[in-house]
Amino acid sequence: MLAAEVDAVHQRVWQAVCHYWEPNRIHGHGPDHAMRVYSMGLQLAAAERADPLVVGAGCYIHDAGMRPDIGRTGHIERSLQIASALCEEMPELASVRDLLLTTIRYHEAELPSPAPLPMEAVCVRDSDTLDRLGFTGIRMTLQYGVWIGRALCHPTDPLCRERTPDLNAFTMDYVRYLESLPQLLVTPLACSNSKEKQKEHEFYCSEFLSSFRQGRFRQGHMRDHEDALQLVMGHMRAESAVG
Ligand SMILES: [Fe+2]
Ligand SMILES: [Fe+2]
Repeated sequence: MLAAEVDAVHQRVWQAVCHYWEPNRIHGHGPDHAMRVYSMGLQLAAAERADPLVVGAGCYIHDAGMRPDIGRTGHIERSLQIASALCEEMPELASVRDLLLTTIRYHEAELPSPAPLPMEAVCVRDSDTLDRLGFTGIRMTLQYGVWIGRALCHPTDPLCRERTPDLNAFTMDYVRYLESLPQLLVTPLACSNSKEKQKEHEFYCSEFLSSFRQGRFRQGHMRDHEDALQLVMGHMRAESAVG
């Protein structure tokens, strides 16, 4: 299939699924996440000679099953249903149905997957993982924390340096947990891109800590999450102005 034809299929997929993503801005998994994962996914597909049709469609559908009322819960099953329905409507996807469903089923890096995972699934997974790192990942984690009503951080160990992360209790424990994701990346391009993301992570954490020590963040206050979000949004704006 020509690149222009692949692009046309992707645009039809996006038109079909964008309404699922839109309301999920509320917890940080809106269309911007889909767009970043799609863009990086295609770069990884080109580097790995994976099928761009499948990778792009997988990226556009992977979190479409999230919901504004129940968030991540059960989202992979719902994304699979959305993908299956699309395969019924689009013959271009019907011919790659099993591969497409595999990219969605195993898109989260922590999930056990069959070895070897097809390269198309690796590309979607690595791309999603990259977006969960650095400023973009911290922002999604903070927004999810606000939505779910989680406390921002532990009162005496805000960056979880002395405890096992308690992902349901503290947003910053989840941020700490994100540090374990780069080791799950597979493709060389994603591994090399993760270095910059890890620098962003360290930079954010040191700024967070100094704000915490100045008393700006107190456990359990909604204002805390907003301040922590401002900290990351400021860096993302500065980055896009430079880039
Ligand atoms: Fe997901
Ligand atoms: Fe995702």
